Amino acid sequence: METKEIKFNPENIDLALAKEAGDILARGGLVAFPTETVYGLGANALDEEAVKKIFLAKGRPSDNPLIVHVADEKDVEALVEEIPEKAKLLMRHFWPGPISIIMKKSNKISDYVSAGLQTVAIRMPSNPVAREIIRAAGVPIAAPSANTSGKPSPTEAAHVREDMLGKIDMIADGGSCDVGLESTVIDMTADVPTVLRPGGITLDMLEAVLGEVHAAKGSATQDEAPKSPGMKYKHYAPKAEVHILEYKTDATNALAKLVAQAKQDGHTVGILTDDKDYMPCGAQVYINGGKTAEEYAANLFDALRAFDAKGADVVYAPLRWQDPIMVAVRNRIYKAAANRVTYTEE
Ligand code: TXA
Ligand code: MG
Repeated sequence: METKEIKFNPENIDLALAKEAGDILARGGLVAFPTETVYGLGANALDEEAVKKIFLAKGRPSDNPLIVHVADEKDVEALVEEIPEKAKLLMRHFWPGPISIIMKKSNKISDYVSAGLQTVAIRMPSNPVAREIIRAAGVPIAAPSANTSGKPSPTEAAHVREDMLGKIDMIADGGSCDVGLESTVIDMTADVPTVLRPGGITLDMLEAVLGEVHAAKGSATQDEAPKSPGMKYKHYAPKAEVHILEYKTDATNALAKLVAQAKQDGHTVGILTDDKDYMPCGAQVYINGGKTAEEYAANLFDALRAFDAKGADVVYAPLRWQDPIMVAVRNRIYKAAANRVTYTEE
């Protein structure tokens, strides 16, 4: 299949181009488009054949449900049994934006979208390119992240190209994604809401609006039935083996030792630092995550892909113990590292 690539200027959206993308979606095709979190791989959520193509293109297990994207709050009603009062509060406070709200699905949502669950996750993105494309399609759009299953989510059109060229109809290039991590996923079907995936809308922000909110464990093990099916899969993993180093004030000494040992064992070693002032500690590949949690989040997935491109086969990621502003970032790195972690008292 030939994949058409078109470029959008997010500050001045060409509506004719948005219509071209929208038409492909309306006719049952696949279009990757930018959102404020990561690039999504969209299909008409009401068209089962179109939705099946998403699973094929990504190599996604069929028991992992998709998020349905809308351009307008009034489009939600038809997709769910009812909108709980607390869900309305969330929409008012955080939409358009990086939060997906799980409600009981209506019969418009097929089992392919919900992966057999009785619920559906819905999100209204704020990215203007996403909004114009969804609006032009005139239907709700099912869209997982536009990466091959198991790889880091795409935050640039180039990442989408790497994974999806020749497999989908169109890539809409709208530049880099602002947030860089996927949306917060929250289950609103029980009395006390539960965050299933941490993201840009934090627990504190949610509690300020909703009162009590539970947080599900960051990842589920294979033998317990996870509430969010996506949590049981390996995620965000580059080819390199990622290791976390939990430190208290200064990771330099511990990093230098780890790097020296790995080099002795014949590895090409990378460091993904959380602090601009670190020294490379002898690693051959050194990538700066950024000074703030926001910068780090925005850079993370690009950095994970860059380690592969630069040939690092072992990557150390130092993280400060229990740093609260890093909850969503830590969640993603721990998955990329498949929970490989070393602690230092330093
Ligand atoms: O920011 C985002 O959410 C991006 C952009 C494109 O919107 N999308 C995204 O989709 O990250 P995906 O498919 O990569 O991740 C969706 C996550 C999965 O972990 C999935 O299991 C969970 O949401 N999920 C979706 N529907 C669910 C449901 N009804 N119940 C529980 N978990 C659900
Ligand atoms: Mg994903």
